[in-house]
Amino acid sequence: MENDIEKILISALDIQEMCQKLGDTISKDYDGKRPVLVGLLKGALPFMSDLLKCITIYAEADYMRIKSYAGTKSDTINLTKDLELDVKDRHIIIVDDIIDTGKTILFVKTLLEQRGAASVEVCCLLSKPEERLVDIDAKYVGGFVPNEFVVGYGLDYNELYRNLPYIGVLKKELYN
Ligand code: IMP
Ligand code: MG
Repeated sequence: MENDIEKILISALDIQEMCQKLGDTISKDYDGKRPVLVGLLKGALPFMSDLLKCITIYAEADYMRIKSYAGTKSDTINLTKDLELDVKDRHIIIVDDIIDTGKTILFVKTLLEQRGAASVEVCCLLSKPEERLVDIDAKYVGGFVPNEFVVGYGLDYNELYRNLPYIGVLKKELYN
């Protein structure tokens, strides 16, 4: 599996530092608000798990499954597993692995606002700012990556590589 990686962009240690910084900021910003972290399955799972442990205030967690990808291309967006919590009047933080075109996050944010959330912010481990197609951004971002297909730490290519502990660039010959 590791032979399929062209280069490591963000090491496991760097990821932990990003989670710590984001957790500190969220803990300060949401003190007394008991936010609900909404993790988007499956990609956000490792990040959600580490981020939660870096948050020091009362916070709840719930999950949604959004399917939007086939290979390396963003496709139509489908909600395949919904939340269990009622988000009405709650402060929501959407947690995802990466914001790319922004379509997934816009879809989820709009949905949660329609359901009456008190506020909806976005926390992504990574952002590909050059790729944005819709007018949305994440308030909390761990780091930026160039316009390359990355895998690891939850991010997959056809369901593989989610279990790498770092973020790496996949060798192009594997998907071209
Ligand atoms: P968006 O809707 O285009 O912003 O795409 C967001 C989703 O696409 C993320 O939740 C990821 O699951 C997936 N995605 C975007 N870029 C990459 C990548 O470089 N590698 C793996 N998955 C990606
Ligand atoms: Mg995803």
